Amino acid sequence: ASPLRSLSKTDVVMDYYNKKIMAPMVRIGTLPMRLLALENGCDIAYSEELIDFKVKNTTRVVNEKLNTVDFISKDKSLTYRTCDADVRNVLQLGTASSVTALEAANVVVNDVCAIDINMGCPKFFSVQGGMGSALLSQPEKIKDILSTLIRNLPIPVTCKIRLLATDNETIDLLKIIENTGVKAIAVHARMIPERPRDPAHWDRLENILSNASFSVPIIVNGDIFEHGDIASSLAKTKANSVMIARGAIRNASIFSQPVATNVHKLIQRYIQIAYENDNHAVNTKYNITNILNENLMTQTPEFKSIQSAKDYPAFCNIFNISSQYEKFVQSQKVEAKNYISVSVQ
Ligand code: FNR
Repeated sequence: ASPLRSLSKTDVVMDYYNKKIMAPMVRIGTLPMRLLALENGCDIAYSEELIDFKVKNTTRVVNEKLNTVDFISKDKSLTYRTCDADVRNVLQLGTASSVTALEAANVVVNDVCAIDINMGCPKFFSVQGGMGSALLSQPEKIKDILSTLIRNLPIPVTCKIRLLATDNETIDLLKIIENTGVKAIAVHARMIPERPRDPAHWDRLENILSNASFSVPIIVNGDIFEHGDIASSLAKTKANSVMIARGAIRNASIFSQPVATNVHKLIQRYIQIAYENDNHAVNTKYNITNILNENLMTQTPEFKSIQSAKDYPAFCNIFNISSQYEKFVQSQKVEAKNYISVSVQ
């Protein structure tokens, strides 16, 4: 019998009011970053976006060695990993089809607390496949996907959208989504053509939420970079919860006070969690690079060294935790080497 509590994840009651949420982020939101955020005051950590047909074709494997549940693709790559400490885990799906989305959700349903549908991604890969922000102009498709999932799944279903061109159009869309029975709606306060460097429009969300009332919690997302921005974005927009992406890469302790001031310490802890969960070194390196990048530390010796580093001993050496690495290795259920190959998207 598995020691994992994951079989009862469906019993977790998800509440999306007054929550601090780590946003879905491709390649960033793998298990170690979620765990780092959760131990630093994050309430709910979304997975990276996973495409429905990829998830649908995975096999669930209880990993006794790591005490994780792994979803492995046919090519033996790891598509999704979770564990007991990954509490209130939300898996975000990229989809253009209610049928495939449901098939994918059914594979993971016992091991996640909710499913979120990505309706905001403007990238070519998503949009040309009818996924992400392509859905925003197809209300019938939105209704079909969300209501199919809600009718058939025992866990909450949510979605993440962007602002439409006008507030009235956005209100109409939010109403359509609300009526499907979703448990929460995250609103990235930018429009589809807008890029991360464009400022988020908290004022538009404020206007939307003061002109319409919703029975479902609304989560504000965009430009929350400091701990204080959590309270100010909520006060300004009257949203119910916050969702943070780049601010959490920069400092995974943004969610609660006191916020960590030492980026090195956070990276050291990240490396430890990643090692303990046998995270693929390529993904760990990508995350360390992004943390340094978001902290404008690309001119540092660490940044230069990490570019040529390939494995955990090297990461530990760069961040001065080589002696701890020996301890991790001894205390770990894992060997120094990844024992299954892991996907790199
Ligand atoms: C993202 N974003 C994103 N959104 C989404 O719905 N699914 C995803 O997989 C991703 N992936 C992703 C990767 C990276 C590296 C970034 C920076 C962003 C968008 C993200 O969730 C969020 O909506 C925006 O970044 C705006 O929030 P911030 O960064 O202003 O807090």
